[in-house]
Amino acid sequence: MGLQWGDEGKGKIVDVLAERYDKVARFQGGPNAGHSLHFNGKSYVLRSIPSGIFREGTVNIIGNGVVFDPIAFVRECGELRAAGVPVGERLVIGRKANIILPTHRLLDAANEAAAGKGKIGSTQKGIGPCYTDKVSRHGLRVGDIESPDFKARYEALKARHIKELEALGYDWKASVAAPLTGSLEEEENLFFEAVAKVREFPLVNCEYYIHESLANGSVLAEGAQGTMLDIDYGSYPFVTSSTTTCSGACLGLGVAPQQIGHVYGIFKAYCTRVGSGPFPTELFDATGDKLREVGHEFGAVTGRPRRCGWLDLVALRYAVIIDGVTDLIMMKADCLDSFDSIKVCTSYKVGGRETLELPFDISQPVEPVYTEFKGWKCDLSGIRSEDALPSEFRDYIAFMEKYLGVPVKVISLGPDREATIFR
Ligand code: IMO
Ligand code: MG
Repeated sequence: MGLQWGDEGKGKIVDVLAERYDKVARFQGGPNAGHSLHFNGKSYVLRSIPSGIFREGTVNIIGNGVVFDPIAFVRECGELRAAGVPVGERLVIGRKANIILPTHRLLDAANEAAAGKGKIGSTQKGIGPCYTDKVSRHGLRVGDIESPDFKARYEALKARHIKELEALGYDWKASVAAPLTGSLEEEENLFFEAVAKVREFPLVNCEYYIHESLANGSVLAEGAQGTMLDIDYGSYPFVTSSTTTCSGACLGLGVAPQQIGHVYGIFKAYCTRVGSGPFPTELFDATGDKLREVGHEFGAVTGRPRRCGWLDLVALRYAVIIDGVTDLIMMKADCLDSFDSIKVCTSYKVGGRETLELPFDISQPVEPVYTEFKGWKCDLSGIRSEDALPSEFRDYIAFMEKYLGVPVKVISLGPDREATIFR
């Protein structure tokens, strides 16, 4: 689980942990995710395909709760095949996953344009409109591509979307319309070509498939986005449209809560956010710029510069509670190597009162109260054993574990698979 606003490093950690699991499953979100992996001197970015895809013998599942864009998926498969990954042998797709149509992406752009100043900063991959159709019961699902009336149902949904686009005053005919690469007609051709390719993959009844997988082995569920972007518990309305928290794994895969063993919660040693919405510890000064530069904080999906700030333990504790985290995984502390002092937010001042709780509306003025730590001022990135960590860094971790009541079990000190310390 990502415990912050996304981009915590889930891709790297899932890739590392995948070795210990038989299967890896995505359970929510879609190609709005950008999960980066680095090994053997190469870098990869995954969007809808689980981060276990590089492991021989690991089965990857696109679960029911995912919103699935056939065009984006086929493109991603092409990139992986070009890198020598036999995607077809390692991937299955849940029939109940809802399908993203090209018009869902147009609707995303239209909604954002209509929101003006209140825009969310969506990745415009069609995520929100697709989940909206799911909940309002008009959606198309992956299992529907096996049905002879798929094309007719597609046309009916598209006709609905065109009406919505026109009601929003959006010029969907313009061939330059934001999130499409060509005209709608060209995108539709790509869509049906992609759907034909998806038919070649094993489609599964995800809930039974997972049930059997858990009876015979283990499954690692890979979250996308983060707790602060959760549709119910995030900084609403500046959130994504899915359940990004732990219960989303139950919903999206069809597993019962008691089937969950460990809950790995991933967080960066500082905070970032991409897109609009409240961010109490955001820095607008040179320190924020430095974090962005050292941490290479630019979006993997959209290339947008990420907003940066100090670690927010109030928000992190909130996430730990909601997700039921059993094992914390700390990312990118090596990006703080050169700082003389490092701050973490340990409480908020809201309306003159100090609190450890996230207020209902965090867009109201929230003043972060900081605890300051002495920087370790040395290069952590080459360290591969716990004993070699500097004492200042250990104090910093111990403080966090005490505050959050959960042990930090993994420390990642660089993007590469090898730069990982298990405690
Ligand atoms: P990973 O899995 C960071 C943000 C967008 C926007 C809001 C809604 O890589 O951590 P959407 O496209 O879902 O309608 O956008 O959520 N967002 C992410 N931010 N990491 C992500 O995924 C994100 N997926 C969506 O920037 O603010
Ligand atoms: Mg990302």
